Amino acid sequence: MCGIFAYLNYLTPKSRKEILELLVNGLKRLEYRGYDSAGVAVDRVNVKDMALIKKTGKVKLLEDEIKQRCGELDVEAMSDNHCGIAHTRWATHGVPSEVNSHPQRSDEGHAFVVVHNGIITNYKEVKTFLQKKGYYFESETDTEVIAKLIHHFYTQHSQYSFRELVEQVVQQLEGAFALCFKSIHFPGECVATRRGSPLLVGIKTKSHLATDHIPILYGKEHRPHGRGDVPVLPRSESTSEFQPLEDKSVEYFFASDASAIIEHTNRVIYFEDDDVAAVKNGALSIHRLRRSMDDPHAREITTVKMELQQIMKGNYDYFMQKEIFEQPESVINTMRGRVNFENQTVTLGGIKDYIPEIKRCRRLMLIGCGTSYHSAIATRQLLEELTELPVMVELASDFLDRTTPVFRDDVCFFISQSGETADTLMALRYCKQRGALIVGITNTVGSSICRESHCGVHINAGPEIGVASTKAYTSQFISLVMFALVMSEDRISLRQRRAEIVEGLQKLDEQIRAVLKLDSKVQELAKDLYQQKSLLIMGRGYNFATCLEGALKVKELTYMHSEGIMAGELKHGPLALVDHTMPVLMIVMRDPVYTKCMNALQQVTAREGRPIIICEEGDNETTNFASKVLEVPRTVDCLQGILTVIPMQLLSFHIAVLRGCNVDCPRNLAKSVTVE
Ligand code: F6R
Repeated sequence: MCGIFAYLNYLTPKSRKEILELLVNGLKRLEYRGYDSAGVAVDRVNVKDMALIKKTGKVKLLEDEIKQRCGELDVEAMSDNHCGIAHTRWATHGVPSEVNSHPQRSDEGHAFVVVHNGIITNYKEVKTFLQKKGYYFESETDTEVIAKLIHHFYTQHSQYSFRELVEQVVQQLEGAFALCFKSIHFPGECVATRRGSPLLVGIKTKSHLATDHIPILYGKEHRPHGRGDVPVLPRSESTSEFQPLEDKSVEYFFASDASAIIEHTNRVIYFEDDDVAAVKNGALSIHRLRRSMDDPHAREITTVKMELQQIMKGNYDYFMQKEIFEQPESVINTMRGRVNFENQTVTLGGIKDYIPEIKRCRRLMLIGCGTSYHSAIATRQLLEELTELPVMVELASDFLDRTTPVFRDDVCFFISQSGETADTLMALRYCKQRGALIVGITNTVGSSICRESHCGVHINAGPEIGVASTKAYTSQFISLVMFALVMSEDRISLRQRRAEIVEGLQKLDEQIRAVLKLDSKVQELAKDLYQQKSLLIMGRGYNFATCLEGALKVKELTYMHSEGIMAGELKHGPLALVDHTMPVLMIVMRDPVYTKCMNALQQVTAREGRPIIICEEGDNETTNFASKVLEVPRTVDCLQGILTVIPMQLLSFHIAVLRGCNVDCPRNLAKSVTVE
């Protein structure tokens, strides 16, 4: 939710046009994080002045606005010291509008501007304080208090550096934030910080980077202060053997995630909570106010393994479509180097050392939101079977609402594509505090959930840009299946079962290719359905998760009502919805619940329902009851959900296109939900 992007150069001459293009391009890469408005702030010719351009709607509209105002912006002017900050928004406080978009400003002269991802929970208090000091607020955002607060501190302590002013500000803020600041009082400088929301800096140099660490400067402890007081900050001291990065030709890119910077550099530093990073005269410094026992001396510059083409659409019209069709490869990438098909063993390097501890645990808890939660539902039965442990599956928000009891001998899995979902992250911290072992299952290296877990599995699905999750789901599913296989490795009684699952995994990519060939058939089906108001999706057993996930995809992409119904519950209520007009889709596989599914099917046909059926290839008996059929290859029961969910992904995609919906950016949603 909300994407931050900032760019700085020093002694690398660039025109303002280039800078603006760079900023807009960065925002386009981040647009999946929020897309109801966007804005940029860049220096004018006179660096004591700043241009602020904001637009409601998608980044493209901001780009058009910039083109229209290119005369006023003097875009051809060259300079070798630039700083620009940019933002794409997903509204939390205040409707999408120009005044509510970021950058938010301190005053009409743009003394300080800020872009923000997250939520300031105490903004009302801070606002009241500032209003008493005479500040007038123009927006409904929580972010505006940040711009005004730094201005207030500046008026009180103009001797402070930009970084010190930011440190004053963040000490007054509660909630979650990643922030980038720019100021006409500190031209060419940028200060960025985070607490609870992701932030990284990309570093681009002409020559080889002379260092792979940036030292952390620590401030000494200072006395506590009340809200509104300005504490006296000590000067920084460095205790590190590492040298600061002072290469004058360096270009810096602050961003919410690596997809925004990967076309410029793959060398990044992931910031930790309460890091304050400042760039001044081409030098990057990282500062922390307080030092705790285990704080490191330096932040490492890491190399991101992401190719530009992975975040481009290629020959597809939509990212979601591309990601659906990538699944034959993404499932292989999830298993690569982990599943040995010859000797039927599985190794998960990220949790290997913890397996003995996990085997001794009281229970497994699988926690996530939305699609990630569905991957837990999809694999619970197999985990119960292969681990013989109690398995709880929890929605992160509800888990926290209930203040669920958690114990030291629990093992808690946090499943998250982005690795940043606030509810999931809060649940992780809750369980960690109670001493449980924390296992992260994420798709984003360096994300908060990754870093805060004791151990984990990267699902390696590759960047997922479409807001609706597709390939991450199938890779999460496989990661959890692999975990179940690891847990049962020494169980002789399960040898046969394990062997059939490993064989099933081996054939998955080919079988997914076969399912993807149904695309045109699914498109035809979508033509029958796209004008309907509702779609019921029924199934049970291993395929119940497909019903939930399919219904979620239909809802979020097409804005049509859809419900995933446990077929066993049909006669306890949902059957009342069924008549000849109600579109029903049923998943009926030749697995242990086949007979029960057929009962449900007959209950539906008895009410004049003529369901669309997803079944196994060649199952003529079942297809007799269907109005339309989608046949998928047969695999082992516990993996069948991977093959049945893909037609649902395709169906929701085609219905969305036919209804004219924005496939990659559904209304009101964002890819990464970093607020509770
Ligand atoms: C639906 C979807 C969401 C996410 C949910 C959790 O298509 O993408 O339901 O699954 O917001 O996100 P992550 O997995 O990033 O924690």
